[in-house]
Order: sequence, then structure tokens, then C-alpha cells
Amino acid sequence: MKLYDELADWWPLMSAPEEYAKEAEQVARLLCPDGADRRLTVLELGSGGGHLASHLKHRFAMTLVDLSPRMLDLSRSLNPECRHLGGDMRSLRLGETFDAVLIFDAISHVYAMDDLQAALRTARAHLRPGGVAVFCPDFTTECFNPETTVGGTDGPDRGMRYLEWVQPEITGTAYHTEIVYLLHPPDGTLRIEHDHVRLGLFSRQAWTLALREAGFGEPVIESLSSRDVFAAKAG
Ligand SMILES: C[S@@+](CC[C@H](N)C(=O)[O-])C[C@H]1O[C@@H](n2cnc3c(N)ncnc32)[C@H](O)[C@@H]1O
Repeated sequence: MKLYDELADWWPLMSAPEEYAKEAEQVARLLCPDGADRRLTVLELGSGGGHLASHLKHRFAMTLVDLSPRMLDLSRSLNPECRHLGGDMRSLRLGETFDAVLIFDAISHVYAMDDLQAALRTARAHLRPGGVAVFCPDFTTECFNPETTVGGTDGPDRGMRYLEWVQPEITGTAYHTEIVYLLHPPDGTLRIEHDHVRLGLFSRQAWTLALREAGFGEPVIESLSSRDVFAAKAG
């Protein structure tokens, strides 16, 4: 996807870190449901530009993992105090465990059941006994809303706007979106780019079964900005 590769530098104008503050509060509560008398360790898979992590790092010792070197570079400059690693959420094995594992919106990039199960097994493999994992897909089947959104903002010397069109058709466990980016670099020219993205769509029941198969207990399902968020303890 261009957005996480050659367009990665534009990510902070597409989805500013401040926009994650409210959701981060709810995520923090789910990561630490019983409170804690020490700083918990959290592994975030698919941490992207680290915008969500920038609100969690004061409370948790974060290890941030992403597939994209350019997104990791962005996150390193925003969150220099966090540990950053390259890796695929479907296959990563660090040989260590954490108090909690988080896969936020990045889990939406997994659109086949086999890959969802692989990502959940990765989360389970990195969780200490009794630890909690939190997953925030953009949509579940029950919440699916084929909407069109526009956004973007201006920086000091450049600006970007985007239009994201979530297509109504569903193919197996995937839905499709078209994203058009309008980019104004500092030289005043206009650049137009496009991504077609396939994203995962699973029902709450499919999530619950996949979590069980990966070694988790029954998940708590909460609403997070009209999406479903799953929190499950290591079984
Ligand atoms: C929407 S961005 C995440 C943004 C992030 N929540 C933030 O706060 O900046 C999705 C990220 O998932 C990553 N990603 C997609 N598939 C992945 C995989 N299989 N393993 C690890 N990262 C993946 C992409 O590289 C991208 O950085």
C-alpha cells in the first residue's frame, strides 16, 4: 500500500496523533483492567506511525512492531523512548512475553481467516499467563458501514486531503476501499495518488472462535467510537 511506503511521510497529516487521545484512554483501561502497581509492558503489533502509542507510552513500556520500515521511522521520531522492531504480526516470534499485547487498527489489514488466526497466535505467544490482548478492527460484520469519509489537514509548509470510499461489496472475509490522496508539497504543485485496499471483515462470533482457537478465553466486547473492540485474557 502506497500510504505505508512511498507516501508514509504524509501519514501525520492524514491522521494526526491528537486524534487518538480519546480512544487511547479506553485502550489503556482495557490493557490494564485491574489497575497495576508497576509499569506494565505492552507489545503493539502494526503500530504504524506510533500515533496511538504516543498517548500510551507514558503509562506503559511499549515495544512497537510494524511491517513497514518507513512507518517505523516515523514512529521512532515521535516516540524515541520506545523500542521499535520490524516484523509481521502473522509470524513474529520474539522469544519473550509481555503483560499485554495490542493490535489496534492494523488488524484490519488481515483479511483471510488463516491470517487472522496466525496474528492472534502471535499475540498469544507473546502474552504472559493471565495477560490481556486487545484488538480493534475497523469493522466487524455487525458494525460494517460502507461509508465515504474525507479528511486530512495542513502542516506548516504542505497540506493533504483524502477521500476514502468503503465499497459495499464483500468478498468472503474481505471488503474493499478506494483512497484518493491530494497532496500539496512545499513547492505548491498538486500530486494525486490512489490506493485500493482489501481489509478484513469477520463477525463477532468468528472473532470469538478464532480467539478461542488461538488460546484465549471468552473476549469482552466493547464499543470504541462505534467499532467493536475485543479484549481477551490468555486462556
Ligand atoms: C493504519 S496503520 C496503523 C496506524 C497506527 N495505529 C498509528 O497510531 O499510527 C496500519 C499499519 O499496519 C501495518 N501492517 C499491516 N499489515 C501488517 C502485518 N502483517 N504485520 C505488521 N504490521 C502490519 C502497516 O505497515 C501500517 O503501518
